[in-house]
Amino acid sequence: MRVGFLGPPGAGKGTQARELAREWNVLHLATGDVLREAVAAGTALGLTAKGYMDRGALVPDDVIIGLVGERLGARDAATGFIVDGFPRTIAQAEAFARLLKDLGQMLDAVVYFDVSEGELLRRLTGRRVCKGCGRTYHLTSSPPKRAGVCDVCGGELYQREDDREATVRNRLEVYGRQTAPLLDYYRQRNQLVTVSGEGPVDAIRGAIRAAVGAHR
Ligand code: AP5
Ligand code: MG
Repeated sequence: MRVGFLGPPGAGKGTQARELAREWNVLHLATGDVLREAVAAGTALGLTAKGYMDRGALVPDDVIIGLVGERLGARDAATGFIVDGFPRTIAQAEAFARLLKDLGQMLDAVVYFDVSEGELLRRLTGRRVCKGCGRTYHLTSSPPKRAGVCDVCGGELYQREDDREATVRNRLEVYGRQTAPLLDYYRQRNQLVTVSGEGPVDAIRGAIRAAVGAHR
């Protein structure tokens, strides 16, 4: 299984990819998660990425393409992957196609998560993430059993730097300008499948399974 998850910030890509990667036994490669780990660890990659991320801009293509090339070339990606939040520009999509060709692999589908802008704002400003295991919560729609504490690992929940309202609006604008053109890019290549990203998490997961299964 080799699938890409495409959609605006807050569409639920990470929520779904985390579970489906486990179910399909494939690598979950979320470029945003890799970058946040690098920022937290203070590595060279993190230092480069932080300024872009904090203002809701995209990290330069060459940095992202290098990172993905390294991860998808590794042994744990040989059985398949979900790329979550990548590609995000036409240049990234073209580099991704070259990389897959070099690896002798085919992309099964790109899943587009369709969610209204009002819902995205609500989700992002209420999102909380576990520092320990990365699991995602929402203050009202999927709160933890104990406020501020992860149900699964007991880790502390925090709000992402870029989930404040002004930055969220910028991320949505950047998405529309730089990433939304990928819908046509993948539609033209007959690789795009669309699911509604609104409704219960389990129902959306079922729709993704069905759409990817039907497309392969
Ligand atoms: P990244 O981490 O990829 O952020 P994003 O694309 O902006 O998307 P999010 O992670 O915010 O949303 P999501 O779709 O994963 O939603 P989630 O499942 O968490 O990127 C961050 C930054 O890194 C970028 O701005 C950029 O600077 C940089 N970057 C990353 N990749 C890059 C690339 N390829 N190129 C260049 N730069 C890059 O859900 C959101 C909330 O909604 C949660 O609270 C969740 O509980 C809730 N929720 C989920 N599903 C539902 C549902 N069905 N109903 C109700 N609530 C739900
Ligand atoms: Mg995410």
